[in-house]
Amino acid sequence: ALRGVVAMDGPSGTGKSTVSRRLAKACSAAYLDTGAMYRAATLAALRAGLDENSAADEIARAATGARMESGTDPGAPTILLDGDDVSAEIRGPEVTGFVSAVSAVPEVRTALVARQHAMIRDATGDGGGIVVEGRDIGTVVVPEAPLKVYLTASPEVRAARRGRQDAKAGRQSDLHVTLADVERRDRLDSSRRISPLYAAADALVLDTDRLSADAVLDRLRELVAERG
Ligand code: C5P
Repeated sequence: ALRGVVAMDGPSGTGKSTVSRRLAKACSAAYLDTGAMYRAATLAALRAGLDENSAADEIARAATGARMESGTDPGAPTILLDGDDVSAEIRGPEVTGFVSAVSAVPEVRTALVARQHAMIRDATGDGGGIVVEGRDIGTVVVPEAPLKVYLTASPEVRAARRGRQDAKAGRQSDLHVTLADVERRDRLDSSRRISPLYAAADALVLDTDRLSADAVLDRLRELVAERG
């Protein structure tokens, strides 16, 4: 079993969610998808009628004012916004197009990181483990995590993976548009002033272009076994 935190970072489409959930299940650990929290906060801002042109303080108020409940069961991770299950809606194009702007607002990050710390404390308090995935877990949220992993892959491979996920979920998407979105979010997430996306110096960097999810999972289970 896993004790403490595994920090899983990297850009979108690297297989991070799949691997994080499977690792949590395999190790009887909890699972926290911090990207889903930023997406739900973004949906709250959209529901308040805000967009990319809105003032940062208005975005912060709407994004942090809604009641958010994130499930930590890797078998069925759900996220509720004001009591509504928004797990599917937060994957749609409106949220995806706006989330990088919302997550760059400092007050939004402060509020969500505080919630993440509380959930991580709950999950690890009695010697339990949690796999936490995001962009800044190993660098900002849990810099003391004993195991940090940073997954990468080329933009083309990541866009193709996103396209397959969209098809599976019944969302229409176009590969060129998906690739442009992947590259745009990489640029925004990596260049923002606060908590930009980068690999912690002590993270294990795995390039998943030629690694299957099974292979990545095997490697991580070995690492957990060695360190646990
Ligand atoms: O992982 P996912 O693609 O769902 O994340 C959506 C967006 O949320 C990212 O593009 C990024 O802007 C933001 N995010 C973040 N910090 C995290 C997790 C996600 O800024 N820890």
